[in-house]
Amino acid sequence: MLEIEHLVRTFGALEALAGLDLSVGEGDRVGLIGPNGSGKTTLFNVITGVYRPTAGSVRLEGRDIGGSKPDRIVNRGVARTFQNLRIFERMTVFENVWAAQHRRGDVAWRELLYPGGSAERRRRGEVDYLLERTGLADRRDVLAGGLPLPDQRRLELARALARAPRLILLDEPAGGMTPAETGQMIGLIREVAMPGRTCIVIEHKMEMIRELCDRVCVLNFGRKIAEGSPEAVLRDDAVIEAYIGREVSADA
Ligand SMILES: Nc1ncnc2c1ncn2[C@@H]1O[C@H](COP(=O)(O)OP(=O)(O)O)[C@@H](O)[C@H]1O
Ligand SMILES: [Mg+2]
Repeated sequence: MLEIEHLVRTFGALEALAGLDLSVGEGDRVGLIGPNGSGKTTLFNVITGVYRPTAGSVRLEGRDIGGSKPDRIVNRGVARTFQNLRIFERMTVFENVWAAQHRRGDVAWRELLYPGGSAERRRRGEVDYLLERTGLADRRDVLAGGLPLPDQRRLELARALARAPRLILLDEPAGGMTPAETGQMIGLIREVAMPGRTCIVIEHKMEMIRELCDRVCVLNFGRKIAEGSPEAVLRDDAVIEAYIGREVSADA
């Protein structure tokens, strides 16, 4: 599904990604961990076309997408959530998901300008279905900016799912959540986001990595320092040391 080879991304003198290799097969559930600043979000930004690679390659289903425009990459079946949420605060929950769905390339702009046709009704039905699945149906007509953080993160997930991705990239989907809220998010990702999709999750909460992922990749200074099953990797002393030890033990 995704083949990353010798990927380098620099910002001035800083090497945010310093020759990263990562191979993700169809249906894989990969956890991406590492200290702050180790390059995790930068990797998502390169995969989704926000940044061009400085060197190396990103191939999606055999085709090079390194440096492609973000919209083209969405149309190739890749969607993501953002660590710093990107919802539209002054739009309702429904409108947020609807707008995300309309970034999909298969939507005719005529439908946007002349709503009410049968295709548009079907799309609105899809949005309502997604809101139902993500537990946001009763918040449908509320302004997104007024939602509590866990609901905003759920909305961010619903927006990504509205793009009908085959590969979904989740950037700290439980960031800032309590343990109970994190538990609910784990269930939502497992039951709604993951089935039928390939998934990469960045998360500091090891509980989430253990419960959702079948493989973990550890980054440090833009390089992969360990990879393997969660049980094996999270037992590795070098990993724990490179990582923020406090967070690992707090959640372990
Ligand atoms: N647009 C940018 N301009 C300059 N430096 C950046 C930019 N994006 C990321 N960086 C730097 O790249 C490094 C990796 O950042 P990031 O990928 O966000 O780390 P992580 O998500 O693992 O915490 C950090 O040192 C960060 O400051
Ligand atoms: Mg990050």
